[in-house]
Amino acid sequence: MHLVSVGIVLALSTICSSLDNGLVRTPPMGWMTWERYRCNIDCKTDPENCIGEYLIKSIADKMVDSGWRDLGYVYISIDDCWTLKKRDSNGRLQPDPDRFPNGIKALADYVHARGLKLGIYADMGNYTCGGYPGTTLDTITIDAETFASWEVDMLKFDGCYSNSSEKALGYPKMSAALNATGRPILYSCSWPAYEGGLPPQVNYTLLGEICNMWRNYGDIQDSWESVLDIIEWFAKNQDALQPVAGPGRWNDPDMLIVGNFGLSYEQSKSQLAIWAILAAPLIMSNDLRTISQDAKDLLQNRLMIYINQDPLGKQGKLIGKAGSLEVWVRELVEEQYAVAVLNKGTDGLPRRFTTSLAQLNITKSTFGYKLYDVFEKEFLGTFKPEAAFQMSVNPSGVVMLFVRPAAMRNHFL
Ligand SMILES: *[C@@H]1O[C@H](CO)[C@@H](O)[C@H](O)[C@H]1NC(C)=O
Ligand SMILES: *[C@@H]1O[C@H](CO)[C@@H](O)[C@H](O)[C@H]1NC(C)=O
Ligand SMILES: *[C@@H]1O[C@H](CO)[C@@H](O)[C@H](O)[C@H]1NC(C)=O
Ligand SMILES: *[C@@H]1O[C@H](CO)[C@@H](O)[C@H](O)[C@H]1NC(C)=O
Ligand SMILES: *[C@@H]1O[C@H](CO)[C@@H](O)[C@H](O)[C@H]1NC(C)=O
Repeated sequence: MHLVSVGIVLALSTICSSLDNGLVRTPPMGWMTWERYRCNIDCKTDPENCIGEYLIKSIADKMVDSGWRDLGYVYISIDDCWTLKKRDSNGRLQPDPDRFPNGIKALADYVHARGLKLGIYADMGNYTCGGYPGTTLDTITIDAETFASWEVDMLKFDGCYSNSSEKALGYPKMSAALNATGRPILYSCSWPAYEGGLPPQVNYTLLGEICNMWRNYGDIQDSWESVLDIIEWFAKNQDALQPVAGPGRWNDPDMLIVGNFGLSYEQSKSQLAIWAILAAPLIMSNDLRTISQDAKDLLQNRLMIYINQDPLGKQGKLIGKAGSLEVWVRELVEEQYAVAVLNKGTDGLPRRFTTSLAQLNITKSTFGYKLYDVFEKEFLGTFKPEAAFQMSVNPSGVVMLFVRPAAMRNHFL
């Protein structure tokens, strides 16, 4: 097959400064309530799955016992719907005492005792998206101080119920307020998603200076259509988005839905492969208490995580198309690469694809490169740049390769 270049794009190597709180030099990994648990506050009839202390503690236990934490999944985040409908008499946000009977500080202690980090949610605006008290310009400081006093480690700051000019004031103000607490708190900004996600409405230079990560686009849903829509949007706009990511400052295509109901096994691999290529945060929203062994094995794939966590922090790109196939490449440290060949077709035929490293612009190592199939966990051999190799890519599936200079001593697997 013939690889059609989608455009020779020489990335301007911009030196971007990032939010100087020392956090997330590689993309954050963890778990978050929103996609799977939404605004389920019904602890009477659904005590195991409602937004509350039990859910967070039981997932935290699993993150430790089932090996998630030791692979890097360390953030555990409460999304919307954790507060009462009113602030307390001191103007502070307060957790619903029926659902969080010991408060957030005790929950942070529980999570910290297990080597994890706690995330929380607030909204720049009159209300949260779920209708709970928002954080208006005059309550930003007190909310930042409240979160720091509870020893929270991450804040997702949503943007419902505010206009553009309030957001333009509020997001930088919260960044400064978090900094002023003296506690390093990962700051995740939903701001760009509310402004269309692209320049000139979105100033990514500014975002990189005030936020550690940001949602560029709409919410993910539990379906392949949703995953594909996000992948297509990131591909279409990659020339604007790719250069702005780097250590401490990440584009966020939203949560991993692997382990839920909407994705097949092939589609689950595809989400993980593209998220790893995009240097995206790996924040799951699923049920680690009941997750299938297949989904767990994919999410815990060490080579996929190694690629995602590459310290160069350079987001990958779509470099070519061939029929229903898309070829994505991410450059890693020490002349290593990750390649994902995605088959967007659904006509049932696994697509054969023949290429070479030279065609993928991977040519520098004169001794050639070792190739690994990431999801098959297989060493494929050593290839000179010009040597052709072939693969078969299943419908709505992916083949992900890890490419390492032959001169590097160890085998990865
Ligand atoms: C090929 O790789 C070189 C260096 O590795 C890079 O400068 C160049 O932009 C790449 N070309 C394309 C078409 O991606
Ligand atoms: C927020 O509340 C203020 C004061 O009540 C109101 O003027 C403003 O329109 C509201 N903003 C939005 C986006 O709902
Ligand atoms: C945004 O909301 C603020 C406060 O409610 C208001 O003063 C301002 O005029 C609004 N700006 C726009 C552009 O609507
Ligand atoms: C606050 O910002 C300063 C200057 O950018 C930085 O050196 C410091 O580490 C930051 N502190 C926290 C807690 O984020
Ligand atoms: C974007 O933000 C940067 C950093 O704050 C600033 O220097 C620059 O002028 C802004 N760009 C635009 C087009 O507003």
